[in-house]
Parts: sequence; C-alpha cells; structure tokens
Amino acid sequence: MNYRHSFHAGNVADVFKHVVLVLVLRALHKKDTPFCVVDTHAGSGVYQLERLGEFEQGIGLIWPERERWPVLADYLSVIEKLNGKAGIKYYPGSPFIIREYLRPQDRAVFMELQPGEYVNLKTNFNGIKNISVHHVDAWSSFKAFVPLRENRGMVLMDPPFEAANEFDNVVAALKQGARHWRNGIYMVWYPFKSRMMVRKFHQAVRALKMEAQAIEFMTLPDDVENRLNGSSIVLINAPWGVMDALRELLSPLAVGLAGASGKPEVRFVDLRGSYTA
Ligand SMILES: C[S@@+](CC[C@H](N)C(=O)[O-])C[C@H]1O[C@@H](n2cnc3c(N)ncnc32)[C@H](O)[C@@H]1O
Repeated sequence: MNYRHSFHAGNVADVFKHVVLVLVLRALHKKDTPFCVVDTHAGSGVYQLERLGEFEQGIGLIWPERERWPVLADYLSVIEKLNGKAGIKYYPGSPFIIREYLRPQDRAVFMELQPGEYVNLKTNFNGIKNISVHHVDAWSSFKAFVPLRENRGMVLMDPPFEAANEFDNVVAALKQGARHWRNGIYMVWYPFKSRMMVRKFHQAVRALKMEAQAIEFMTLPDDVENRLNGSSIVLINAPWGVMDALRELLSPLAVGLAGASGKPEVRFVDLRGSYTA
C-alpha cells in the first residue's frame, strides 16, 4: 500500500465521519442486491500517522482502550486490518473502509482531483475488479456517475471546504441527486465553522424535501466562530436503524473524544420539510 503522510488523519472529525460511514455500509449488507458507493473526494485511501499529529486527540484516544468500545467494533476492525493488534501507525481513509465492505456483487467509484493523492489512490486500488478510480473534478463529473445503475447505494461527499463556494458545490450536487436519483443515500461531511453558513446550507437541504437529518458532533464549545469546534454530517435517506444506532453511540463517543477540557455535545437536526429560522 502507498501511505500518504498526514497530520490530520485519524482526528476527531475522521473518527466521527468514519463511524457513520461504517454504520451505513453495514446497513447496506442487509440485502443481497448489489449496491454502489461513490466517494466524490476520496483522498489517497490510507495514511501514515505523524508523531504529534491530530490523531492523538482522535483515534489515538480510543485505540488503546478499544475493548471499552464494543459499539465501535466494526469500525475498529477496519483499523486493525491495517495495524494488527499492537500500536496504531496507519489510518484508513474512506476508500479503504468502503473496500472492506464491498461484496463480490457490489462496486465503488472513487474520484480525486489532486494529482499526488490520485496517484496513491490509483496505486492502492489498482486491479480491483469492482473499483474504478477517476482523476476528475467531482463537481463537474457528478452527473456522469449519479444516478447509479444499481439504483441502490450511497454518495459520500467529503470535500476539503477550502474554496469559499464549497457549500454551493455541495448543494448543486444534492439538487442533481434529488432530481435524478431521489432514493439514493447521500452523506455530506462539513466543518462546523460558521453558524451562518451552516444555517444557509440546512435551508438548502430542507428545500430538497427529502428524508434528511443533520448530525452535529461537537467536542469543543461552539460559541467561538471560525474555529473547528466540531463537524457535521447531513445524511439523506439513512438506511433503517442507522439514526437510532447513531443516537445511542455518538454521545458517549463525543465524551470519549472531548477530553477533560472539551465540551461534548451531539445534536440531531431534522431537515425534512420547509425551513423556519
Ligand atoms: C477531506 S479529503 C477526503 C478524505 C476522504 N474522504 C477520507 O475520509 O479519507 C478531501 C479530498 O478531496 C480532494 N479534492 C479537492 N477538490 C476536489 C474536487 N473538486 N474533486 C475531487 N476531489 C477533490 C482533495 O485533494 C482531498 O484529497
């Protein structure tokens, strides 16, 4: 495997995002019919953890005490696949996690724009029959991949939110999805930096009139604007049982990751119907 060094890999946001991802993938196994997962912003797939990296406040807090976390067994077993049972050196990105959940009848599409990340991604998943890797801009290529021919599966959108208009890109893709593949599962991760931008995004998701929920996972107080106090996921058409499982496991996880000086809080926001601010 080609490991990309990363300061951010395995941080609090990754743990939250990947725990949710594993629950959705696990739920897709409830039926034998094939599914497809589109990962629009895939990254390189696997990361070598850096000393003093952000993982120390993320997976680094959970891993040494993993027997205390039976509810995270599926997620932790993917990490164990990379590291064995001893210390943690590597962290799986979303493509690695998705690959672990593909059955012979399923497939995945990975998109990545940054050339270095793409080369690693391509190398890591080369020759796997049911995985295709594309060096493309996810936003302009979205229409080429969605709707999925299986009519079953999910689209994961995990952009870097470096561009000022990233929420607009996400909303445009969701609108396209709502129009052409209404029964798809959509999972969008976003940073909880600006309350105003999040509110505007929620308003746009409500306007889709789909089965949408936002899950806000905070480990630091959220009254300071423009700081990564936490992150959120909008989940549209969550498979049956996933929201209940999240309600049970995310609060203790936030407590476990917040540390002594943090402020753990998990909020669920119903984004169905019309918007009232
Ligand atoms: C937050 S990282 C993805 C992490 C990955 N989803 C995971 O959970 O392991 C975002 C990735 O999107 C890539 N990217 C940025 N803009 C893109 C675009 N327009 N289309 C496709 N990929 C893009 C970046 O190079 C980066 O690797």
